[in-house]
Amino acid sequence: MIGWVIRVDKVKVGIIGCGMISSIYLKNCTQVFQHILEVAACADLVPELARKRAEEFNVPVACTVDELLANAEIQIVLNLTAPAAHAEINRKVLLAGKHVYTEKPFALTRQDASEVLSVAEAHGLLVGCAPDTFLGAGLQTCRKLIDEGWIGVPYAANATIIMGNSGDGMHPNFHNFFKLGGDPIMDMGPYYFTALIHLLGPVRRVTGSAQQLHNEIKIQNPQSPRFGDKVPVEAPTNVAAVLDFQSGAVASVQAAKESFGYKPRLEIFGTEGNMTVPDPNFFGPVPGLGLLTIQKRNGESKELPLSHGFSEDSRGIGVADMAYAIRSGRGNRASGRLAEHVLDISLGIFEASTSDKHVILQTSVERPDPLPLGLKYNRLEV
Ligand SMILES: NC(=O)c1ccc[n+]([C@@H]2O[C@H](COP(=O)([O-])OP(=O)(O)OC[C@H]3O[C@@H](n4cnc5c(N)ncnc54)[C@H](O)[C@@H]3O)[C@@H](O)[C@H]2O)c1
Repeated sequence: MIGWVIRVDKVKVGIIGCGMISSIYLKNCTQVFQHILEVAACADLVPELARKRAEEFNVPVACTVDELLANAEIQIVLNLTAPAAHAEINRKVLLAGKHVYTEKPFALTRQDASEVLSVAEAHGLLVGCAPDTFLGAGLQTCRKLIDEGWIGVPYAANATIIMGNSGDGMHPNFHNFFKLGGDPIMDMGPYYFTALIHLLGPVRRVTGSAQQLHNEIKIQNPQSPRFGDKVPVEAPTNVAAVLDFQSGAVASVQAAKESFGYKPRLEIFGTEGNMTVPDPNFFGPVPGLGLLTIQKRNGESKELPLSHGFSEDSRGIGVADMAYAIRSGRGNRASGRLAEHVLDISLGIFEASTSDKHVILQTSVERPDPLPLGLKYNRLEV
């Protein structure tokens, strides 16, 4: 018998921004999705950071942003810079003729978001945006159960995003979390809003109240270069919102960074059952942070088995999905249009708060296609 080896060229990826989150992306791009992705270069404003990550993950080139964009072999650029830099880098990447996948938030203004999408469309390029946690085992299983009718008609949801505000033991650049983009709605909201759109569809209108308790916060993480400093709070850190979905479902959201700890919660209420959704900041259920359970009419609550793979930290699955999409000519799931709708929700909440009104959203998006069942290990297409 003759053995056939089918060689599929990998999609070459360049990474801009080699800070904290780059580590898990590099790990997954080089060790989980290496059948479709090849990391060809990394760059950072701080050359030492790019060199360090390149060495750690055997990436052949550490270079400047301009050198990376001039590399004709790179097809996708992964933008892992800080929120304020996202839109400008995304535009540059597209103008260099490459597909772009960016960390959230997609942009800080609607104009930046729509400009990036227009440039992409004009050049026939794809835009992708985190979060990609909705492609994980937890949220894919929830989607399957909801679509199969396990909770009947979903009519309401409840999301709580409560985080600490001192940064002790957390991110070294925690001072950035009190500017727009690092605040609870723009930084953590995308996980919840994306999960809700994935499960319930697009949002029609929003309203909200945005407040804050503090005007400055003391940074208490000894690893931080700003340890002991008091930093100004420049974005709302205590927000309550209501989202009306096009389906008629209504969700309430509480997002704050005013006290201590980490308290995530997401529940979907249906006519035939109530679903506890695993923390949408993770790919699968994490004990203590919400398991996947359904409570039925008789009051009985049951933990349900996962129907899909990717329950471990699979950041980068959205980039791999984009590479498959480039190969086959289909759209990518963690898309720029989805991220634009998420941004519209976030900014709409702030605008509703200052105008004392509901805000009707101008954007909409189809629910991204679920991942198929029965995929081979670490693969995204059958
Ligand atoms: N840290 C996390 O746990 C986490 C989790 C999920 C998503 N994110 C998102 O990932 C992004 C990056 O977060 P992080 O925690 O890695 O931040 P970070 O501050 O650790 O790293 C950002 C890196 O980008 C570089 N950079 C900034 N502007 C640049 C530019 N114009 N050109 C080239 N490099 C530039 C910085 O030098 C820095 O090394 C953010 O949007 C954040 O919301 C972070």
